[in-house]
Amino acid sequence: MSKPWMIYGAYGYTGELVAREALRRGHRPLLAGRNESKLRAMAERLGLEAVALDLADAVALARALDGVSLVFHSAGPFVHTSEPMIRACLSAGVHYLDITGEIPVFQRTFEHDAEAKARGIVLLSGAGFDVVPTDCLAAHVARRVPGATTLDIAFAGLAQPSGGTAKSTFEGALAGGFLRRGGQLVPTALGKGGRRVRFADRERSVLPIPWGDLETAYRTTGIPNITTYMAVPSRVATVAKTGWAIGAAAAPLARWLLGAGPVRRSIEQRIERTVKGPDDALRARSRSQIWARASNDAGQSAEAWLETLDGYTFTAVAGVRAVERVLASQVNGALTPALAFGSDFVLDLEGTSRHDALPAASSGAVAPN
Ligand SMILES: NC(=O)c1ccc[n+]([C@@H]2O[C@H](COP(=O)([O-])OP(=O)(O)OC[C@H]3O[C@@H](n4cnc5c(N)ncnc54)[C@H](OP(=O)(O)O)[C@@H]3O)[C@@H](O)[C@H]2O)c1
Repeated sequence: MSKPWMIYGAYGYTGELVAREALRRGHRPLLAGRNESKLRAMAERLGLEAVALDLADAVALARALDGVSLVFHSAGPFVHTSEPMIRACLSAGVHYLDITGEIPVFQRTFEHDAEAKARGIVLLSGAGFDVVPTDCLAAHVARRVPGATTLDIAFAGLAQPSGGTAKSTFEGALAGGFLRRGGQLVPTALGKGGRRVRFADRERSVLPIPWGDLETAYRTTGIPNITTYMAVPSRVATVAKTGWAIGAAAAPLARWLLGAGPVRRSIEQRIERTVKGPDDALRARSRSQIWARASNDAGQSAEAWLETLDGYTFTAVAGVRAVERVLASQVNGALTPALAFGSDFVLDLEGTSRHDALPAASSGAVAPN
């Protein structure tokens, strides 16, 4: 009998969505996490096996991984959790997938590429909304532009964050904004560089944010200049337009204050108490929009649009499909979603459509703010 696969962080908001999607697709994943009573309650509810495990207990981790084929890691912020799990997976020869969007985590995962190849396993960070749809769309537009030098990616989604997303975003914001220029990550002021992007449904204001694609799209496409944008309400864009310079001047002090141990912990506790993630009804009626454009120095460009599920539902659907693809394939190494499964992987996900052109009247021009 083949070994089961494990969801670690299973009783978190997104972990449970992944577990339910896995059941819907006929899987019987092993549930895991550090809190035994939360795990037991979930295991009883879903009728699945569970194992309580702390990431700091390397012996227990090794014992548990001995009995599984793949770990789907959904316990974040991943800057604190991915490395012990990746090391344990490398040692046990078990595939590793996570749903991070955190740049330092992607960087560290890619550093393990040679070890993953030697062990014949896949390490794939970003198997959720960040970065499956954007990575697939980036690969799609890059392929249509010879020698592309610039890539712009924008998304509208995740209207209401989960606690884990809010905590990961807060931790990421402490590091400040980034762009990729000349192949390097360069710091930029958060809030600077707003513009308008025409998504498939309508135009929105967007601001540059340090999205995981700054790392993954670079690995997937090799394009040296990348900017990643998130749609924001117009009033936020207006404040950012005039206020980013003030914010940038105050940022070092704000980061020092917010990053200090007690302040940081109290913000995280408040997030845990108050931020709960979208309910089933909100997820069901929400949609996500993605746009990407690649261009080269000769003035050629290609753009494309993607419309898909709400970000959390997408993460569960894409995550389970990624598990199925990894278990059925012979690929190995530290990969991005598009490198592992191809740019059309996203089109296999229900409720997802890609467009290479908009009607002429609404041609996908990006208007400055
Ligand atoms: N790629 C994407 O598009 C996408 C989509 C959704 C979520 N995410 C990311 O996934 C992560 C989880 O999000 P969520 O919505 O599920 O958050 P959540 O509801 O807060 O759940 C977080 C889970 O992680 C566990 N955890 C946290 N730190 C841990 C540690 N040091 N050791 C062991 N377990 C730990 C928590 O267990 P305890 O309760 O025991 O602390 C809980 O099970 C976040 O980083 C979020 O940004 C990414």
